Amino acid sequence: MVTSVAPRVESLSSSGIQSIPKEYVRPEEELTSIGNVFEEEKKRDGPQVPTIDLKEIDSEDQVVREKCREQLKQAAIDWGVMHLVNHGISDELMDKVREAGQAFFNLPVEEKEKHANDQASGNVQGYGSKLANNASGQLEWEDYFFHLIYPEDKRDLSIWPKTPKDYIEVTSEYARQLRSLATKILSVLSLGLGLEEGRLEKEVGGLEELLLQMKINYYPKCPQPELALGVEAHTDVSALTFILHNMVPGLQLFYEGKWVTAKCVPNSIIMHIGDTIEILSNGKYKSILHRGLVNKEKVRISWAVFCEPPKEKIILKPLPETVSETEPPLFPPRTFQQHIQHKLFRKTQDALLNKQS
Ligand code: OGA
Ligand code: NI
Repeated sequence: MVTSVAPRVESLSSSGIQSIPKEYVRPEEELTSIGNVFEEEKKRDGPQVPTIDLKEIDSEDQVVREKCREQLKQAAIDWGVMHLVNHGISDELMDKVREAGQAFFNLPVEEKEKHANDQASGNVQGYGSKLANNASGQLEWEDYFFHLIYPEDKRDLSIWPKTPKDYIEVTSEYARQLRSLATKILSVLSLGLGLEEGRLEKEVGGLEELLLQMKINYYPKCPQPELALGVEAHTDVSALTFILHNMVPGLQLFYEGKWVTAKCVPNSIIMHIGDTIEILSNGKYKSILHRGLVNKEKVRISWAVFCEPPKEKIILKPLPETVSETEPPLFPPRTFQQHIQHKLFRKTQDALLNKQS
């Protein structure tokens, strides 16, 4: 088999090319919906991603507390994505996480290559770019750094960036704080389904088994941003995803049949409900389709942390309490691994069909 090595997108970007290689050009049908992200972000009309203020999530006052929790629950039902503010993680820590990741990506490509992953041998952790994994050969305009950050005993610190010096300390502290935030969110979502507080946390593996995987997405400047995508349209397979970014717009959500561009909300963390919670809740909480645009002017970086159940140990299916005669199960039982395989299979089938037609 001939495998071609895709170049780092950063190298392509800095080479000065005026037009992008054809593998990065989206199919005709998709191009009509891709616009200038800065223009898109300015639009004030139409639906907007909700902002949820978590300040009162544990308020002593029951009425105040319930109001806050209800808003979180409604956003999870209606959108499945939201800007979280007053989430309890300090601006200083978030800035340090951003600075640490930025400093790694500031290294020359040759330095970063020392951390390259080896996807062919199943080594997904490290520095990488997407390999074309279906018949279309389609590529995305990004490089990334991917690594497991929690639980601590499952980390492989040997592959973590050694530059900057405080990378490990800062990223580990962020992981611990996100892990407690995840517990809090999962408990509100559990109560929202009429379940015991700790139920969803337990169903996704609890403190021992729920894995936090960080993907630093690095989207270089693109000479033809209206032809490419940084990340193609997808839903996250995770239970929850938390995203920080460098205040450059890019994220779009497919809501009520239209692409909505997320605004940049200072000090917020974007949170997605992923497929895992959608399945467990029998579709009550939504895993929304989303994608990332790129632009000509500014490098965009985002820090996505995927909170994922173990690959084989748990069979994901709608919880019995979410199923009734009038609400039959919308998802067949599958392990997390089988769910990922199933999505990949469907995507490959689609690509083959499109090639024929
Ligand atoms: C992802 C993702 C969006 C972004 O990494 O799954 O959807 O804003 N990223 O970078
Ligand atoms: Ni995503």
